Amino acid sequence: STVRHYKFSVVLKNATRLCATKPIVVVNGKFPGPTLYAREDDTVILRVVNHVQYNITIHWHGIKQLRTGWSDGPAYITQCPIQPGQSYIYNFTITGQRGTLLWHAHITWLRATVHGAIVILPKKGVPYPFPKPDKEEVIIFGEWWKADVETVINQAMQSGLPPNISDSHTINGHPGPFPNCSSQGTDYGEYIGYSLHVETGKTYLLRIINAAVNDELFFKIAGHNLTIVEVDATYVKPFSIDTVFIAPGQTTNALLTASHDTGKFLIAISPFMDSVVAVDNLTATGILRYKGTHAFFPTSLTTLPPLNATPVTNSFILSLKSLNSIQYPAKVPLTVDHSLFFTIGVGINPCSTCVNGSKAVGNMNNVSFVMPTIAMLQAHYFNISGVFTDDFPGNPPIPFNYTGTTPKNMQTNNGTKVYRLAYNDTVQVVLQGTAFLAPESHPIHLHGFNFFAIGRGVGNFDPVNDPKKFNLVDPVERNTLSVPTDGWAAIRFIANNPGVWFLHCHLEVHTTWGLKMAFLVDNGKNPNETLIQPPSDLPMC
Ligand code: C2O
Repeated sequence: STVRHYKFSVVLKNATRLCATKPIVVVNGKFPGPTLYAREDDTVILRVVNHVQYNITIHWHGIKQLRTGWSDGPAYITQCPIQPGQSYIYNFTITGQRGTLLWHAHITWLRATVHGAIVILPKKGVPYPFPKPDKEEVIIFGEWWKADVETVINQAMQSGLPPNISDSHTINGHPGPFPNCSSQGTDYGEYIGYSLHVETGKTYLLRIINAAVNDELFFKIAGHNLTIVEVDATYVKPFSIDTVFIAPGQTTNALLTASHDTGKFLIAISPFMDSVVAVDNLTATGILRYKGTHAFFPTSLTTLPPLNATPVTNSFILSLKSLNSIQYPAKVPLTVDHSLFFTIGVGINPCSTCVNGSKAVGNMNNVSFVMPTIAMLQAHYFNISGVFTDDFPGNPPIPFNYTGTTPKNMQTNNGTKVYRLAYNDTVQVVLQGTAFLAPESHPIHLHGFNFFAIGRGVGNFDPVNDPKKFNLVDPVERNTLSVPTDGWAAIRFIANNPGVWFLHCHLEVHTTWGLKMAFLVDNGKNPNETLIQPPSDLPMC
């Protein structure tokens, strides 16, 4: 293992997209930001220097942060922000994971432009459990607003109305196609946007990342199937599919074989959105170009699934199984110390200062999370009282017909509540989607752990019959999963990591509205480890 040093300078940079220029916050002058490379077992010492006028924190999404919770990054959960002119050193060791993850700003909506890839290679000398690709390529999806993104969300929060949807999706920072800025019509130079060059017969490992702010996405390459080999930095049983479904915060490694002799094949992404709340049907395109092809226009197009293509999401998700080999066993907890049931959804609360006299609120078990003004991890380790309470309910306060149209339980309470776990407790959480306002698919992300996705279904979870169908043998292990619209998903994890760990919807609009909570895992001692304490340079509020 090696110690890898990185410096991330957070700076402003002018960027032109969709015929308009605006300053954006980026790392090291790049959008998307630099790729963080490491190997399994390496230690990363990464200094973030804040040169902009916004508070900033950076989250290493999917890195387990075993016993280094202060390096996780969510603002006011594990640290106070790095203020303008200040810096903070994130210091963590990558333990028991290899593959693709992402890093992103974890404060307000800065992650729209402050994000990049994390590539964790296997330990030296350890091969991939699939044929070695000839080349590797990082592909990051994002969203672009012509307006300043911080203004978009601030206006939405003040008005109580949903924020404007983005003006385009992006592939590695490129929208496409988009209008020619100097005349009418489509600029086919920009039509190409992102382009991937391949040679016949070679195999490519695509490290696909969804860094979009509010959209689950479909991804397709005309004329090619993809072999999925890994998600969220865990290996899966390989399977071949033509459409990838990927939620914000998720990562997918796919093998692409350049099986044609020649041609230019369209690469495209489009949103999955089966809710009626905000319809966003923008696509972004790129080109897969075979060496020696000179055609100007794509020679092969593709059809993307419709917005509400739930069957396409299902066939992707149901194909995901842990590799569960001798070398990479799936260590699913077979017993549980805590069996929890969390409703997740968006409702409406009165708001006298809002445009319509009401505002949207996100909640879990009818609690809408209020961000504290002191970091919870700081409060926990330095015994500062009054920052949070540890009474987050393990079940909904009043059971109701969660997915039906009536009756609904729209009442939400505000609170900064954690659910407390002892070190090494085993936990099962059934995440129940609700139809508070409108049924919607929610990508739920857990910090600090991978979990096993042991079951999912439509309608209300049946505590008697559904557990009989749980997969405790080879369920996929990951850090973010889509809870189906008007349905449920069950996860299990072992609380083997002391600290304060955020659980939230990775649609940023829902997180902002309060669809989040945190687990607090008390300190525990492994035989050879000392009790942990945050470093002395942890930013304070
Ligand atoms: Cu990728 Cu809490 O986030």
